[in-house]
Amino acid sequence: MTKSSVDKNPQNLIDLTLDTFKTMVSQAFSGKFTAVFPKLFKSQWKTYEGQKKFFAKSSDTGCKMAGRKFCVGGNWKMNGDQKSIAEICKTLSEASLDPNTDVVIGCPAIYLMYARNLLPCSVGVAGQNAYKVAKGAFTGEISPAMLKDIGADWVILGHSERRAIFQESDDLIAEKAEHALAEGLKVIACIGETLEEREAGKTNDVVARQMCAYAKKIRDWTNVVVAYEPVWAIGTGKTATPDQAQEVHAYLRKWLIENISKEVSDSLRIQYGGSVTAANAKELAKKPDIDGFLVGGASLKPEFVDIINARK
Ligand code: PGA
Repeated sequence: MTKSSVDKNPQNLIDLTLDTFKTMVSQAFSGKFTAVFPKLFKSQWKTYEGQKKFFAKSSDTGCKMAGRKFCVGGNWKMNGDQKSIAEICKTLSEASLDPNTDVVIGCPAIYLMYARNLLPCSVGVAGQNAYKVAKGAFTGEISPAMLKDIGADWVILGHSERRAIFQESDDLIAEKAEHALAEGLKVIACIGETLEEREAGKTNDVVARQMCAYAKKIRDWTNVVVAYEPVWAIGTGKTATPDQAQEVHAYLRKWLIENISKEVSDSLRIQYGGSVTAANAKELAKKPDIDGFLVGGASLKPEFVDIINARK
């Protein structure tokens, strides 16, 4: 039926309205009612799948239009249980989060699906690690394909705890990043120097080496966020000062121009991580090359909302 024939024939209009109504009712009974009656079916509305469909169009456009959209990740590490995770998700669901900030929660793998279903659609969910192939005999590992399958859209790779405790090399991390991107995940690619390296004046060399490894494997940086996390600031309560962080971020922009392209240097988001709290987030967020945070300890607390809203 064409639009003009509908306009001319009132019976067609009635039929069309009835059809629409029937579709709505059938969707309601086939579990798709979140897209149709969001307010009426509030509990279903809270599930991720329903919201994702409803928002799919608008959020895509929003992201493409932004320059370097502020991006805040929570890294829960190996913390939480069903009760505490439900509480954090409730806090995030009820809070007014800055729509100009991407928010992503790095959740322990076993609770990813649980958290996904409790968090608002606007909040992304990340694995904290994933292996470099899709499946196979790799006991204990999870793959990007599995993360995608349960609704996670991000993965954190190369965190200093993976590097130091689990002996992950620059090359392995880069291979993981390559595979995760190929599978359609967004990657938070971590880098950062130890205290010893900083004191020896090697900070720039270390982050350049780590970036080089990524650059050997990553062709398209669109879905990458780099997290600069000085190891000496992680979980220690010792934050880099805004100037210290900005200095390394600025060096990374320069490195990107020289080794990748000006376009990637301008568009790639670089987060700062290491003892970020509600108390220091606002000052750090003022720095021109800091495009967000990766937050450990404070992401388990209600103050995470203030960190998300640091630029609000
Ligand atoms: P922190 O951890 O905020 O507890 O220092 C940051 C991180 O490890 O990503």
